Amino acid sequence: MSGDELGRLLVSLAHRAGLASGFAIGVRRIADLDVPERVPELERGFRVSERRRREFTAGRAAAAEGLARLGGPRRTVARSARGVPVWPSGSVGSISHTKAWAVALVADSAFARRCGVDIEEAAAADTSAQRLCAREAAYKTLSPGTGLPFRPDDWPLLEAGPATDSWTVGVPGPFRTGDPALDVVTGWVSGVHAALTVTLRPDPGPPLKHEDGLHKA
Ligand SMILES: CC(C)(COP(=O)(O)OP(=O)(O)OC[C@H]1O[C@@H](n2cnc3c(N)ncnc32)[C@H](O)[C@@H]1OP(=O)(O)O)[C@@H](O)C(=O)NCCC(=O)NCCS
Repeated sequence: MSGDELGRLLVSLAHRAGLASGFAIGVRRIADLDVPERVPELERGFRVSERRRREFTAGRAAAAEGLARLGGPRRTVARSARGVPVWPSGSVGSISHTKAWAVALVADSAFARRCGVDIEEAAAADTSAQRLCAREAAYKTLSPGTGLPFRPDDWPLLEAGPATDSWTVGVPGPFRTGDPALDVVTGWVSGVHAALTVTLRPDPGPPLKHEDGLHKA
């Protein structure tokens, strides 16, 4: 598969999720990157494996590519103590990696309040991978600033769309009580499932705390 193919799939998912403009996708093949000896923001005093340094670096490179496409001066994505990406002011985003690929979805916060992306390597017919992908994209959308725990069984897929490539994910607990579900669109290309979700502005959810992973808009 080429990075362009994966990028095109993610752009089409973003359109289906309701983003007509104000967003960008970054894609990096993990094997193409030089791995730094140390990645201080990831390691925080502990050595981590080369594979982890490589995927982290590729994710940040994909994020920088997305931010560059979006325009604006700030292209560095920090990492909170909880491991949540902290996006430059004026943007929201999400990162995912497989063994081979790293991708980032970045959106202008004038258009999107939150977003999440997930990719998983699996066959097209592997619906459990597709479902996991949908849940993880939903989790990444809602977790920043809320600390929502991730227990996959708590995240029911309430219904599938007509072609089973869109899902409504039930959000657990008291979170977003006025709007307790989130729509996720999914797709597949050349061995990779992808899932993406966006909460567009205006968003009916409750006020958010300024915590890790979510800057003040
Ligand atoms: C976040 C999570 C769903 C990622 O899914 P994954 O398929 O394993 O990995 P992916 O490659 O798709 O995504 C990893 C990226 O998600 C991002 N991420 C991590 N935590 C995140 C969070 N809470 N919210 C949003 N994004 C997050 C990071 O950018 C991370 O990559 P990086 O560390 O290299 O920057 C997974 O790590 C997870 O389950 N975390 C929750 C753990 C937890 O809270 N457990 C509670 C016990 S029940």
